[in-house]
This record gives sequence, structure tokens and C-alpha cells, in this order.
Amino acid sequence: MDHFEKTILITGGAGFIGSHLVRLFVNKYPGYKIINLDKLTYAGNLANLKDIEKAPNYTFVKADITDAVALNQLFAAHKIDGVIHLAAESHVDRSISNPMEFIMTNIVGTVNLLNAARNAWKDSFEGKRFYHISTDEVYGSLGEEGKFVETTAYDPRSPYSASKASSDHLVRAYFHTYGLPAVVSNCSNNYGGYQFPEKLIPLCINNIRHGKPLPVYGKGENIRDWLYVVDHARAIDLIFHKGVTGETYNIGGNNEWRNIDLIKKLCEIMDRKLNREPGTSAKLITYVKDRAGHDLRYAIDASKIKAELGWEPSIRFDEGFEKTIDWYLENQEWLDDVTSGSYQLYYEKQYVSR
Ligand code: NAD
Ligand code: DAU
Repeated sequence: MDHFEKTILITGGAGFIGSHLVRLFVNKYPGYKIINLDKLTYAGNLANLKDIEKAPNYTFVKADITDAVALNQLFAAHKIDGVIHLAAESHVDRSISNPMEFIMTNIVGTVNLLNAARNAWKDSFEGKRFYHISTDEVYGSLGEEGKFVETTAYDPRSPYSASKASSDHLVRAYFHTYGLPAVVSNCSNNYGGYQFPEKLIPLCINNIRHGKPLPVYGKGENIRDWLYVVDHARAIDLIFHKGVTGETYNIGGNNEWRNIDLIKKLCEIMDRKLNREPGTSAKLITYVKDRAGHDLRYAIDASKIKAELGWEPSIRFDEGFEKTIDWYLENQEWLDDVTSGSYQLYYEKQYVSR
């Protein structure tokens, strides 16, 4: 028997947001045993957790959430009190070219996890919690006005967002049908260190570094609401501990940017940091064919989590953006490692033939 006060299973802990969350929990809660379950897909990387991998309250388990047997074995081997479920296929463009993996991991994988938790907790749900991490993309696309609230009707429009919407519905169905003590949050676009460079910000940082074109989809007029990843991890911590079972919480940065404006700002900062002539990086901006079904605008109304749990972003965008750019410039070896190998094939297919 171990001496831990609680055992928390975090899925997808080797990915971008998951690694920030695992780090936060391992450091902040030495009394919790943190089990990080991850398949280590192209997006999962144990190097993201080098600084805490030897912590006495941390354990890594390589497993695939589509493998129901493996999940049941894990729940049988550990007395798991809480699940924070982040494991997912997360990139919209990949969902357009290969939807099936999204169906398998995001939908089937989530149901496997729900079943494993329900089975392990069948005697009592007392002290248990199943926390599902989701996205604002389930709400669809906004016009120029308005923001997503927790009661906005779902209207997912990509295979990725449809698979996340499906998983959200299933989590809520397990709450209503079986009483599984579930909670859900839907967050806007995260930015920060350790994000796989297929996503807009690290992709552009990496391309500026190499003097490669910055591919702007369509006219660059699509709008996203950006939140510093550490603030998302803080919100998850709060919801996990204080959120009301059965509830949903929207999390957002209150920080909307048109893609083209964000990329131009990035170019200015990169020129300064790399001691390049002002305007050098902006010359790399290249308009390319739009993403199919590209959602125009996302914006989160995060007033519920502020009013009920007292959360709001703690890092101003200017500060978070500089920190993020510095992180990638200080961790160029990480960038080179994750962009070597199979990522090159993806990049060719996604951009070179576009
Ligand atoms: P990511 O792609 O960086 O990481 C996903 C992790 O899940 C990886 O470590 C990967 O190895 C693991 N994984 C994938 N398939 C798996 C499987 N079948 N079994 C076990 N592990 C598997 O994703 P992210 O950006 O960190 O997103 C994490 C979660 O947060 C996702 O559920 C995503 O939908 C949600 N989310 C992301 C954002 C964002 O801006 N990145 C915003 C809101 C919500
Ligand atoms: O809103 C939350 C979501 O944010 C998460 O659920 C997803 O997991 C996460 O990937 C992110 O989705 P987006 O599609 O918004 O992120 P991405 O970084 O892929 O793109 C951001 C915007 O930039 C989007 O409007 C598309 C555009 N874009 C993206 C890429 C990769 C480009 O113009 N060029 C590009 O090369």
C-alpha cells in the first residue's frame, strides 16, 4: 500500500496542455500520486516532463485509451480517485485528412475510460471525479458578434470538433444515466511552450527561424481567443477541486486576435529577438488555400468560472506571448527533435502541395 492521500489519473499528460497540468499537479500536490497515461503518439513526448519524471509522486504508463482491457487493468491495479481526461487527437487539419483516428481516440477512447471508471467505482462514487477536458470548437463558428456561453447549442463543424462534441455528450450521458460524478470544461485556444509545431504559433516561430513561408489560411481573417496554457492548467486545478459535479465551465482568454494580426505581431517580435531588420519575417507571410470548413471566429464568455470559482487569466497576452517565443528560442533542440522524422512527411502533404 502506498501512503498517498489520492491517486489521480491524467490522460494525455505527455502532450502540450497535459504536460503543463502534470507538472502543476506533481509539484503542487506532493500528497497525490499522479499517474500519467499516454500512448505517446507523434504529439506525446516524455521530454516535455523531464524536470519531474523522477518525482516520487509521479508514474508514467504507456497505454492507448482505445484499449479497454488495458484501462480496466490500470483501474484494477491502482485505487484511482480522480480522472482528468486530456488524451485526444487534437489537430483540426489532421482530422480533415484522417477522421477515423479522431473517432477512435476521442469518442471510443473516452467511452472506454468512462466504462473503466464506472466499473471501478461501482460500489460508491463517494470522493470520485471524472473530469473531461474539451474545447470551444464544439459550439461551432461565431459571426462578428457574441460569445460562447455554457448553454450555447453545440454545432461542431470539423471531424475534430464533432468527435469532441460526441465525447462531451457521452460524458454528460454517463452523469445523467449512471450518476458518474463528471464535470466538463470547454476552453479556447491555448498557447505556450511544448505545443507541437503543427499548430499556428509554434509552426510560425519554427518557420521564421528557418526563413520558411508562414502559411496563412484564406485571408487570415479568422479569429481565435488565446489563453496562456499555464492559466488553463490553473483553471483545471480549480475545477477539479471546486467545480460542481454535473456542471460545465467555459474557460477563455478574453483575448481575440485575427490570425493575420497575430502573425504580424509575432513577426515583429521575432525580428527584434533575432536581431533581424524590421520587416524581415513579415516578408515570409504567404496566403494559402483555406482550411476546409474553416470556423470564422471563436470567443469564450468565461464569466461563470469567474463568478463561481474566482478564476480569471493571470498572465497578460503581451507577457505570455513573449515568454512563449522565448521558450521556443531557448528550446530549439526540442523543436528540432519533434520536427524531425515523420513530421516532415506531414508537412509536405499539408503545405508543399497546397
Ligand atoms: P496534444 O495533441 O498536444 O496532446 C494529446 C496527447 O494525447 C498526446 O500526448 C498524445 O500522445 C495523447 N494521446 C493521443 N491519442 C491517445 C490515445 N489513443 N491513448 C492515449 N493517449 C493518447 O493536445 P493538447 O493541445 O495538449 O490538448 C489536450 C486536450 O485539451 C485535448 O482533449 C484537446 O481537445 C483539449 N483542448 C485543447 C486546446 C488547445 O488549444 N490545444 C484547447 C481546448 C481544449
Ligand atoms: O479552440 C480550441 C482549439 O484550438 C483546440 O480544441 C484544438 O485542439 C487546437 O488545435 C486549436 O484549434 P485551431 O484550429 O484554432 O488551432 P490551429 O493552431 O490549428 O489554428 C489556429 C488558426 O490559425 C486557425 O484559424 C487556422 C489558422 N492556421 C493554422 C495553421 C496550422 C493558419 O492560418 N495556418 C496554419 O498553418
